[in-house]
Amino acid sequence: MKNVLDKLNWRYATKMFDASKKVSEEDLNILLDAARLTASSYGLQPYHFYVIEDKDVRSKLRKASYDQPQITDASHLLVLANKPTFDESLVDNYIDNIIKTRGVSKGDVEGYSNMMKGALMGLPDAHKNSWTSNQTYIALGNLLTIAAEMEIDTCPMEGFDKAQYNEILGLAENNLNAAVVLAVGYRSKEDKTQHYPKVRYSKEEIITHI
Ligand SMILES: Cc1cc2nc3c(=O)[nH]c(=O)nc-3n(C[C@H](O)[C@H](O)[C@H](O)COP(=O)(O)O)c2cc1C
Repeated sequence: MKNVLDKLNWRYATKMFDASKKVSEEDLNILLDAARLTASSYGLQPYHFYVIEDKDVRSKLRKASYDQPQITDASHLLVLANKPTFDESLVDNYIDNIIKTRGVSKGDVEGYSNMMKGALMGLPDAHKNSWTSNQTYIALGNLLTIAAEMEIDTCPMEGFDKAQYNEILGLAENNLNAAVVLAVGYRSKEDKTQHYPKVRYSKEEIITHI
């Protein structure tokens, strides 16, 4: 298991990607499956993932990201988008998927459906937005860890203008909102930050055993 920690120490938020190196389609698909397999509250998966390769789109997004070079230089750019609001169809679609996947009847899952609707439908829109946005960060964590395990570099990014991303990618008309971005690729040898020691609180400072 020590290897897991080696990989987590190996990873770092990559500042300079080697623009000549591409993540293979096979590896990209593993990462996307890892995102898809992410746990979410109730299992509702209130998000959608965009894989951006198009150069023109990437250069527009870079302008909307404080000109951070990772946006254009990484092999692939993932935009994790949450559903800023939702209605009963979020639950109904999920319930249909359970019925289809597990071969159960509507009656079997009616209680679960009503429980989810009862808990979620009355939430104010701001709360719905923050709750679905939180779910995308679970996928982000999975992607960071699995990529590290595969020795693929990443940079998680919040340094971008959400409204501009939503506009450039046409997200709002699909009831989506750019929550967080992940640049994926391979580090440049020139990126000095890869040699910086990790800055983390000690276990004593950050963990309490009771
Ligand atoms: C949600 C999130 C948003 C971040 N946004 C940016 C960003 O916009 N640009 C950037 O260069 N790094 C960004 N980072 C990277 C952090 O600064 C970095 O993860 C942190 O300093 C710890 O360093 P390490 O990841 O290299 O271990 C972000 C990290 C997270 C988790």
